[in-house]
Amino acid sequence: MAKGLCLVTGGAGFIGSHLVDGLLAAGYPVRVLDDLSTGDEANLARHHGALRLLRGDLRDRDAVRAAMAGVEVVFHLAAISSVQRSIIDPVESIDVNVRGAMQVLQMAQESGVRRVILASSAAVYGDSDALPLNEREAPRPLSPYAVHKLACEHLCKVFTQMYGLETVALRYFNVYGARQRPDAEYAAAIPRFVERLRRNDTPVIFGDGEQTRDFIHISDVVRANLLAAESPTACGCAINIASGHAASVNEVVRILTELTGATVTPRYDAPQPGDIRESVADIALARELLGFEPRVSLREGLALLLESQRSALTSGRRVTDH
Ligand SMILES: NC(=O)c1ccc[n+]([C@@H]2O[C@H](COP(=O)([O-])OP(=O)(O)OC[C@H]3O[C@@H](n4cnc5c(N)ncnc54)[C@H](O)[C@@H]3O)[C@@H](O)[C@H]2O)c1
Repeated sequence: MAKGLCLVTGGAGFIGSHLVDGLLAAGYPVRVLDDLSTGDEANLARHHGALRLLRGDLRDRDAVRAAMAGVEVVFHLAAISSVQRSIIDPVESIDVNVRGAMQVLQMAQESGVRRVILASSAAVYGDSDALPLNEREAPRPLSPYAVHKLACEHLCKVFTQMYGLETVALRYFNVYGARQRPDAEYAAAIPRFVERLRRNDTPVIFGDGEQTRDFIHISDVVRANLLAAESPTACGCAINIASGHAASVNEVVRILTELTGATVTPRYDAPQPGDIRESVADIALARELLGFEPRVSLREGLALLLESQRSALTSGRRVTDH
């Protein structure tokens, strides 16, 4: 049976473009809606002719309506995904992140879309110390960005209850992999460490480096999205998407130093204000509702990242092109 058309909002961005790769590889026809504000057309260049990229803003009603025509599943990833920007530019970022999501939900419902999968975030937990972080834990958002994501989760649930529009919110933890820009947030420490260690420059660690995060490789995030599109039991839920393992920043630097063969040792700087000490997810719900099992260990994922950069450099492509 032919697979239904998928719309990926934010499909030219880091996670969205990998999701496009995964959907096309699985045989889904794909359309992308992106305003290319932080995304890059080059991330989709290899699919030239195989997908439609609609350049448009989430807040443009007509653009969103046009993008929905004939779509079965929407993966809503487009957002201003920077916590800092949500603080510096709060009105613009809530407009994109919440009004934009509302527009996507409304147009999806009106257009007869079967399911919307929302890219939410571990940021909704704030600095909760009830580890591992569990979806039953009351969210304690600490930034406007986290509030936006939580609001979007609630809007999804409301659309499921009011209209029967199937929705699933995926709370990504720290996603890393190829195409992630060193100036991005979340796991952005990783591309920054990689950039420095490849040149044998000293990496800078904020604090003592013993703070932990739950890093998840991009390929596992893509698989979780594909599972969420089909799961019969996940509708109306918010689900952690993570590796389920805590890794310290020191551990990440240690592995990257080994893999790059760098000979430098890290420099430790003052901790960043508001930096959370520990974060790790409970992924039991993802296992139960999605049948999700992370496959890529941190060491394997970091090796894959370095390998993809190496092959991009030797083939003369930009590092973002793989
Ligand atoms: N990277 C992570 O670790 C992480 C963690 C948790 C949640 N998320 C969420 O996952 C999603 C994707 O994040 P990413 O890291 O790939 O970020 P990204 O910035 O690479 O991707 C966002 C995409 O959305 C597009 N976009 C932004 N505003 C738009 C608008 N008004 N109209 C249309 N398109 C617009 C951008 O051009 C970009 O291509 C975001 O919703 C983000 O909040 C990411």
